[in-house]
Order: sequence, then C-alpha cells, then structure tokens
Amino acid sequence: MFKMRFNLRRLIIITIALVAILYLVLHSSLLDTPSSVSLSPRHSVVDIENRINKLQLQMKQQLTDSNNLLDKVKLHLKKSNHISKEAAKDTIQNELDIESVSNPILPVLVIACDRITVKRCLDNLVKFRPSKEIFPIIISQDCGHNATLQVLKSFTENDPTINVVLQPDLSEIRLPRAKVKFRGYYKIARHYRFALNHVLNTLGHEAVIIVEDDLDISPDFFEYFLGTYPLLHKDPSIWCISAWNDNGKKEVIDLSRPELLHRTDFFPGLGWVLRRETWLELEPNWPEAFFDDWLRDPENTQGRACIRPEISRTYSFGKIGVSKGLFFDMHLRYMHLNADFVEFTKLNLTYLVKDVYDEAFTSTVYSLPEMSADEVISSAGDTAVRVPYSNAKTYQKAAKKLGLMDDFRSGIPRTAYRGIVTCYVRGRRVYLAPDFPWTKYDPTWG
Ligand code: UD1
Ligand code: MN
Repeated sequence: MFKMRFNLRRLIIITIALVAILYLVLHSSLLDTPSSVSLSPRHSVVDIENRINKLQLQMKQQLTDSNNLLDKVKLHLKKSNHISKEAAKDTIQNELDIESVSNPILPVLVIACDRITVKRCLDNLVKFRPSKEIFPIIISQDCGHNATLQVLKSFTENDPTINVVLQPDLSEIRLPRAKVKFRGYYKIARHYRFALNHVLNTLGHEAVIIVEDDLDISPDFFEYFLGTYPLLHKDPSIWCISAWNDNGKKEVIDLSRPELLHRTDFFPGLGWVLRRETWLELEPNWPEAFFDDWLRDPENTQGRACIRPEISRTYSFGKIGVSKGLFFDMHLRYMHLNADFVEFTKLNLTYLVKDVYDEAFTSTVYSLPEMSADEVISSAGDTAVRVPYSNAKTYQKAAKKLGLMDDFRSGIPRTAYRGIVTCYVRGRRVYLAPDFPWTKYDPTWG
C-alpha cells in the first residue's frame, strides 16, 4: 500500500512537472511568437535555442553598450573635471592679472652714471613717493663713479625699498673713428639693456617706471602712472606711457588742463613706463646706440602709440650730459613742470583708448575752421582751429612759427598722432594737420 501510494505520488509529481514544463515551454514560446505562426515541437526547441542565443547576444551587446556608455561618462567626467580645473586656473590667473593691474607694483628704475646731482632726483622721488611698497626704487649705476655711488648709498642705507645695482660691463666700447663722438650714446644703450633686464627679468617685475638721474618730477608723478597704468593692459595699441610733453613750453600748452592726456606716435621718453611683455619683444633687437630714436621707429614698436600729458610731469635739469648743452639752452630749460596734483586714479581715461580716440580725434580736427600759423599768433580768440600743412617744409614752417619743435624722427614730428600735432597757443587749441588723406609717416621727412 505504502509502495503503491509512493509510486502514485511519484507519478503525480512527474505528471505535474511534465505538464508544468510543457505549459512553460508552450507559454514562453507564445509570449513573443507572432500568433499567426504555429510551431511544431521540434521547431519550438530550435526556436528556443535560437532565442536563447539571440538573448545571449543581446545581453552581451547591452553589456558592451553600457560599458561603452560608462566609459563615455567616465571620460566626460574626467574632461569636465579637467576643464573645471583649467577654468579655475584661468580664473585665478585672471584675478591675478586684474589684481596686478589695479594694485600693481611699479618699481622706479633710476639710470645713474657719474653725476652726484642724482641726489636732487632721488630727493624728489623719496619726497613724492606715496608708497614704498608700490614704488620700490632701484638705482642702476653705470660708469663706476665712486663719488656718485657714495651719494646713492646715503639713500639705500636706511631704506630697504631703495637699492643699487652696478652695471657690470664697464669696458670701453670699440668704435670706428667716425662714431667715437657718439660713444656716450653707445654706453647709455648698453646700460639700459642691462638695467631693464635686471628689473624685468632678473627681479621679474611686471613693469617699470624709468627715470634718468637728471629728472625732476611733479607731485603727481606717481599718481599719473598709477592712474594710466591700466591703459597699458586695456589697449594693446599703447606700448608706453610717458610723463613728458616734447612741446611742453608754457606758451604752447593749456595750463588750465593739467588732467588732459593725449596719444602720441612719437616716443617721448623722459620718465616712462614699460611693461615686461614689451621689453621681451624689444630686447632681442635692442640697438647699440640711440635707443630713444630706435624706439621712435614704428618698425620697432609695431606702430603702437604712447600716452603723454598736456603738461609734463618731469623736468630735465641736466645741462651737462651726453648731448651737449645747446639742446638744453634752446628747449629743455623752458619746459614747464606741472605743479598741481591731479587724481588720475579717480579719472575716467577711456577717452584715450584707440577705438574711442581715433574717430573722435580726426573728426573733431577736420571739422574745425582752418587758420594759418601766422593768423594764429597774430589774432586772439578761443575757438579751436586747424592749421593745415602739406609737406615736411610747410609743417616745419608752421611749427616754428607757433613755437613748436620742428624736427622729425622716422618722419614723425614730435608729439604727432596720426600726423596731427596739437598745441595751445594764445588761448586756443590748435591742430597742425595734414591737408591730404594721411595714411602713414614718410621716413624721408626730416
Ligand atoms: C639724451 C636724452 C636721454 C636719452 C639719451 C640716449 C634728453 C633730454 N635726454 O641724453 O633721455 O636716454 O639721449 O639717447 O633728450 N648714462 C649712462 N652711462 C653713460 C652716460 C650716461 O648710464 O656712460 C645715463 C645718465 O646717467 C642718464 C642717461 O644715461 O641717466 C642719459 O644721459 P645724459 O648725460 O643725461 O644724456 P642726454 O643728452 O640727456
Ligand atoms: Mn639728460
């Protein structure tokens, strides 16, 4: 009985199992087989096998796909991580740039040689310097002159923000007989190369204010450079900022406009700011002599402009120097040094940016009434006028009449911007302007 019951139970279980398997097989094959297709049992087994294979393939494909996707996500994450790191780096760099433009360190480089009167220059620098930290003073001495070095030491002794460096190459420069009289200019160019490399490369400063040992400065000299310095970054067409107006005599400037600044194509020198970036461009071709005239050749400065004031912020007291005293007696002696303090850092100087300036400048000048230089000096009036010129000769004639410098460098008249020279004579603004469509300077002028 027990055995029969056992057998019966086994039979029932097997039957149920078989039915269940059959049901499952049939059911699963019905699941995604088009209902119109009826399959034989043999077919359905093959079909199941196929399906399993297909499923296996699909699963494999899906796995590959999701792996690929994962890889892509990983790559993307890596990239965006890198990008955000780069972006962070850029942001930091930008912030540093903005910081160094709005809160710069502008060392003053004093070019000294053998004149003990450098004391006068240094006394004023120390007197008007608003901050020792922003404006450290670096004196570079050429010429190996001991008495001058003693003077310099009296400034460096008690002030760690004033330092002296000695130009190490004091060797005589060998020159052909015809050039011997220019030896001084060769030495000056050699000294400048050393001193600028020292401040901008060795010490690594971003920019430098260059002052010669025979310059007086105005009370707002430092404020002038602090206020104009951002222009050097904002406007790539400006390569230098100078404290000097080459036509800075009282009679030809507007004494009521100490805040007025101009663009000029003529490098003025005599108290000026140079960026390291520009020095790195200039240094490889730095000339052996006459570096200032070299800087007045547009080929060397890529035709970029300088900023200069209406009223000079420096005054040269160096009658005895490399160029003989004649130039001093004829011109330098009469230059007017600004006495007012202009808060340049609080002024909006956007009018000096090329895009704004050029259009306004030329359209103003060419909309003004014409007048000859003779009429300007013999008549009174307060309206601005244009004095036309057509060639080097007529320019020089008009300039002389008005009391302006009449010389050229690389075809550029002193203080000219796009061929136009501006001055202020007998109460009126005067523009000497080409009476032809100006495109560039003619190096054969002068
Ligand atoms: C004139 C320019 C000056 C320019 C120089 C170079 C004016 C008023 N002056 O010099 O800005 O730099 O031409 O073309 O336009 N010095 C040396 N080593 C020397 C001799 C001089 O370093 O062997 C230094 C002086 O200390 C001074 C500078 O060079 O700082 C210019 O010398 P200076 O004697 O003043 O010559 P300038 O005729 O004024
Ligand atoms: Mn000088």
